[in-house]
Amino acid sequence: MATASLPASARLRRADAVSSVTLETALAEVSVEIDRQFDQLLAIPDDPRGDLYRAMRHAAIGGGKRLRPLLVFATANLFDVARECSARAATALEAIHVYSLIHDDLPSMDNDDMRRGKPTVHKVFDEATAILAGDCLHALAFEILADPATHADPFVRIELVMDLARAAGPNGMAGGQKMDIEAEATRFDLNTVTRLQQMKTGALISASVEAGAILGRLPPEGRVGLRGYAHDLGLAFQIADDLLDAEGDEAVVGKSLRKDEVAGKETFLSLLGPERAREQARMLVDQAIAHLHSYGKEADLLRDIARFVLERDR
Ligand code: IPE
Ligand code: IPE
Ligand code: MG
Ligand code: MG
Ligand code: MG
Repeated sequence: MATASLPASARLRRADAVSSVTLETALAEVSVEIDRQFDQLLAIPDDPRGDLYRAMRHAAIGGGKRLRPLLVFATANLFDVARECSARAATALEAIHVYSLIHDDLPSMDNDDMRRGKPTVHKVFDEATAILAGDCLHALAFEILADPATHADPFVRIELVMDLARAAGPNGMAGGQKMDIEAEATRFDLNTVTRLQQMKTGALISASVEAGAILGRLPPEGRVGLRGYAHDLGLAFQIADDLLDAEGDEAVVGKSLRKDEVAGKETFLSLLGPERAREQARMLVDQAIAHLHSYGKEADLLRDIARFVLERDR
């Protein structure tokens, strides 16, 4: 990746359609960067913690779309943030996401055997190691953000830490996961499911965009458009996940599917049916893009990400 930006080609192209080549290129480049970061952070020690590190590496390296890291880069690049700063914040976001996946797959949660086309961490190692690998990635995320290498200004670092902590905790991802479990036994209405999904999935997507804005020193009053974009994108993303669960190809998606219906889980899909759910996702993506109206071509990558969320098959 070029210094302080994703490839110039990702910015200089038509704004009216997904340029799959450039989006794919951007995703691929971010994947390489995130793999590199985790490889450096997770060197396997020559002591009894070896399997703990191997478990973290199994989950964190070589898989996933890296959508949250790409959102950090794409937003930070609006403000010409130094590439190393974006890369570290992006890695922190992905570390929380990967931890959430390891725990989500545990027998006591979704009890899944496949993730990112590989056996889940508790299958390859054991449950205790999977829990601890998740714990470690959780802590690592905040260690990365609090490190002066992420940003020279301690006020920027503490804002990154605060925002990610909020997004990961009881008012964000983890709280949403609890509501998601309750959604198997309780009939939730559309408002409650929307709030659940916003917490479970939307919060980390919003934190990814917010991290880019924080690194770019955009004042909170200037973040309204980006926050609207992230909010709508997060909901659209989870609707697409629910649609993939019902209609996707396991070999392409790389995880066990048809889980939500079997679990009797209330989702956008169970409440709206596939056609209206897809229509809702489409509307949210349009709305997300509309929130970027004050940005020019420099936000095309964010626009393409929004379209990708709708069209994705994995
Ligand atoms: C899956 O997230 C879990 C949800 C929050 C819906 P992703 O679809 O981003 O998973 P990876 O990172 O590509 O594996
Ligand atoms: C999990 O949602 C979201 C997380 C916070 C990990 P799902 O349980 O629907 O995610 P998948 O389908 O297993 O990836
Ligand atoms: Mg789950
Ligand atoms: Mg799951
Ligand atoms: Mg799912």
